[in-house]
Amino acid sequence: MKGGQGGTLNGEYQIKKLAALLKLRALHLRVLVFMYRKEEGLMMKVVVIGSGVMGRGIAYTAAAGGFSTVLVDVDEKQLKSAEREIGLLFEKAAASGRMGHEEREEAGRRLVYSHFLVEHVQDADLIIEAVPEVMEIKRSIFEVIDQHAHHNCLVATNTSTMSPTEIGSFTKRPDKVIAMHFFNPVHKMKLVEIVRGLETSDETAEAAQAAAVQMGKETVIVKEFPGFVTSRISALVGNEAFYMLQEGIGSPAEIDRAIKLGLNYPMGPFELGDLVGLDTRLNNLRYLHEKLGEKYRPAPLLEQYVKAGRLGRKTGRGVYDYSLSVKK
Ligand SMILES: NC(=O)c1ccc[n+]([C@@H]2O[C@H](COP(=O)([O-])OP(=O)(O)OC[C@H]3O[C@@H](n4cnc5c(N)ncnc54)[C@H](O)[C@@H]3O)[C@@H](O)[C@H]2O)c1
Repeated sequence: MKGGQGGTLNGEYQIKKLAALLKLRALHLRVLVFMYRKEEGLMMKVVVIGSGVMGRGIAYTAAAGGFSTVLVDVDEKQLKSAEREIGLLFEKAAASGRMGHEEREEAGRRLVYSHFLVEHVQDADLIIEAVPEVMEIKRSIFEVIDQHAHHNCLVATNTSTMSPTEIGSFTKRPDKVIAMHFFNPVHKMKLVEIVRGLETSDETAEAAQAAAVQMGKETVIVKEFPGFVTSRISALVGNEAFYMLQEGIGSPAEIDRAIKLGLNYPMGPFELGDLVGLDTRLNNLRYLHEKLGEKYRPAPLLEQYVKAGRLGRKTGRGVYDYSLSVKK
């Protein structure tokens, strides 16, 4: 009896092992197809929509990973500032030896900046949306994508909190829609959190994973839930820090120092909030408050900072003052 059960368990274990191996093979195959197309000069085309804090980092990472990349924005000033910042990232990568001179030149040539969304999505293999965390803006973008992109195109959103199922429902191809959640700053952060919507196909999840791997990233694949894994924790910590500041418990520098040295976080919650953008953080919290309840109610002080235009590094002032380091 005992032996028989052991035999069954062992059999099940072998089957699970085989299934896991086959899955891994399928993923490797996908990566190989990417690599093959790259070597054949059939560069996969990635279109990144939104050239703000995240879009510019994603575009840099995609171009550095070998993709032919287009960065699209409606705002001329944002595109220009993205081009400057990406230029600096290429320079730094070359100066540190992470990229050879020729490699850097080639990657730079692979990256195009544009205002013309429709023109570029038509022959895209992968589209990554990185516009503000406001559902109506995302809806308008996904409706345009759905009208013009090839039916095989993989469509990803970089949303921090929102539902890829809902975003997929704005299209007639919800099986091709997925969240690829990159982290800030994209060129440094290792993870892409891949979040499947209800209708996302296995193929789409594997292709998103392969694309992230080609961009030099590691991945986790999780099921959809507001805030996924990372934003759900990060928003809570960042919001709590604002409540502490509001209660007068300590100065921003003291609270950041306590969290860094006492809890071994690489950045304090205010340093991170200023990097993320306080407006983006507030939008995330509003969404999580609506979906998950009271514990995510945005701190009134955070709302006040955003009303005052103190959005963080991108505007030169958030919790801290960066006015001397911001390039106009
Ligand atoms: N900031 C972060 O640290 C962070 C981290 C992970 C994910 N995210 C998510 O990434 C997304 C973008 O965030 P961000 O911080 O880069 O925002 P951002 O405000 O810095 O940039 C958004 C960009 O989108 C552009 N845009 C707006 N409407 C557009 C349109 N119709 N077509 C083309 N471009 C348009 C804006 O001009 C702007 O340049 C959000 O969903 C956010 O939640 C942000």
